[in-house]
Parts: sequence; structure tokens; C-alpha cells
Amino acid sequence: MKTEDLESIARKLVAPGKGILAADESSGTIEKRLKSINVPSTEENRRAYREILFTTKGAGDFISGVILFDETIRQKTQDGRTFVKALEEQRIIPGIKVDKGAKAMANFPGEKITEGLDGLRERIAEYRQLGARFAKWRAVITIDEKIPTRTCIQANAEALARYAALCQEAGLVPIVEPEVLMDGAHTIQRHFEVTEQTLRSVFAALAEHHIALEGMLLKPNMVLSGKECPQQTSAQEVAKATVRCMKRVVPAAVPGLVFLSGGQSDLQATEHLNAMNQLPDLPWQLSFSYGRALQAPVLKAWKGDSANATKAQQAFHHRAMCNSKARFGKYTEEMETAKAA
Ligand code: 13P
Repeated sequence: MKTEDLESIARKLVAPGKGILAADESSGTIEKRLKSINVPSTEENRRAYREILFTTKGAGDFISGVILFDETIRQKTQDGRTFVKALEEQRIIPGIKVDKGAKAMANFPGEKITEGLDGLRERIAEYRQLGARFAKWRAVITIDEKIPTRTCIQANAEALARYAALCQEAGLVPIVEPEVLMDGAHTIQRHFEVTEQTLRSVFAALAEHHIALEGMLLKPNMVLSGKECPQQTSAQEVAKATVRCMKRVVPAAVPGLVFLSGGQSDLQATEHLNAMNQLPDLPWQLSFSYGRALQAPVLKAWKGDSANATKAQQAFHHRAMCNSKARFGKYTEEMETAKAA
């Protein structure tokens, strides 16, 4: 596949006013999410829940792509369409998580390395045949007193680059996700430093592996104070710190940054994206690829009962619309109360 084709998919994924829904929770993670609303994680419940998301009318106005999990890309709607087809009918591009999860890194207590490179070429070929046009691989960097180590950052950066190369070889746009977790008591300054160091390492590895920057997307964390940090920061501070950090290290050739929500509340994630898009001189599209921040209100409205499907879809439509407004810096708090009324 030519770089121009990859670039055209990447640009569609970050089209103005649109962003990505991450619905690629692995078996363990979806079980946790369903458990939070007292719903057992059976294959049918997982399918029914994802059908609610993917068949929400009008979702394609705000959602450019959906990241699926291995099980989900093979599932169908109740009326027998593959999820891939149902998404395409909404003009939404199907994507796929291809990593096999972050595992404890040997010799580096408290740190993680993402697995899944073995056999990846073959798995990617199958996913492409099933309809995926982009992929995701998540690396996890943890902050504590003595971590992250350079070794952990570099090992994860190298794996991200090898994954990205295999994706581009097969014609899939790689979403490169090095997540510096917001868990912990660290200050926003410390989160800034670690994020900068991580992204420097990632872009060095991507260059080593000849990745076409025009045909990829970066999925970074926002720069925030840790969840347990006593000094919490305003949306404007988060926006400024995040964009400042990204400008230092992310080449302008990358079409877009699709932020993860990483444990922020759904409203915070929208406010932060909105504040970033109000800043001047942004060299890339600043968008979202939210999991929890798009799905939390949907799960709450659904509760595992098909009688609540319409309410759940309204909740998803509303959250997607608010984040779409935030893509233009035009989100306001009143949009939340307007919905309640
Ligand atoms: P969150 O937005 O819930 O962090 O999920 C995004 C994601 O895809 C993490 O890999």
C-alpha cells in the first residue's frame, strides 16, 4: 500500500468534528465494565452491548472510526449484519486492537511491556480481510518514585515501531499508543517530563523503523496531575501543558493526535479536549479516541436491559456530540444541562 492511501485513511479518522470510539476492551476489561452495572460477561451480553453502540443512529456524524476487539470484529447484529458492515453503513471505519496486552516486565518491578509481535503479520492480514482499515497497540508507562526506567520506555517504543511497520506494510493505519498512566500522586510537571521522554523515544524508534508519519496517528495521554496528587489543575492548564509537550516532540507530519481518556471523567475528557482546541497554532488535528469517557454514561443507562437500549443510545449520541463540539473548541457546559432538560 502506498503512503498516500494510508494518509487518506488517517485523515478521514481525524476529519474535523469527528473522533474515534475505543470499544476494544479485552475479555478481562469488558468483564470489569459489565460487572460495574451487575451484568455477567457472557458472549451475548458483550454482543448486545456493542450492538447498542454501533447502531446508534447519527453516530457517524461524530464518530469516524471504532476500534474493535478480536471477538467483536467477528460478531453480528441481531438482524444478521456483521458489525463491520453495520459500521460501514454509518460511514464509520472499522479498526482493531492487535496487541496482546501489557504484561509484567521481567527484571523491572512495577513496569510493563506489551506483548503480541509474534505472528502479528498473519493476524493483521486476517483482520484486514475481515474489514479493518486501522489498528491499535497500547504501551503502558507507569510513574512512581524510581520508574519509569529508560529500559522500559525503550523496549515499549521498539515494540510500537515494529507493530507500526507491520501495519503499514499490510495497508492498515497504525494508531501508536504510548500511555503514561495518570495513576499516582505525581505532579503535572512530572507527568509532562515522563510524557516528553516517552514520546521522544517512540518517535526515534518510529524513524529507525522507517514509519511513514503521514500514514499513522498518535494516541497520547493528556498531561495531567496524578489522580492522587493534592494539586489538581484547571482545564486550561492541562490544555497548555499537553499542547506544549506535544509540540516539542510530535512531528507536524503526523495528521492527528487522538487522545485517550485514561480514567478522566467523561466531562473532564470533553472539557480538556475543548480547551486544547481553543489554543492557537495547532499543527495537527486534536481529536479523541475515548473508551471510558464515551461509554460510561451508556453503560449506566443500559444496565443490561434491552428496554433501556434507546436511552443508552441517546446517552452515546449526546457524549459523541459534545466531543465533536470540543473538536472545534465550541463545547459549553450548557450542552450538558440542555440534555438533562
Ligand atoms: P480510555 O479512553 O478509557 O483510556 O480507553 C482508550 C483506550 O483505547 C485505551 O487503550
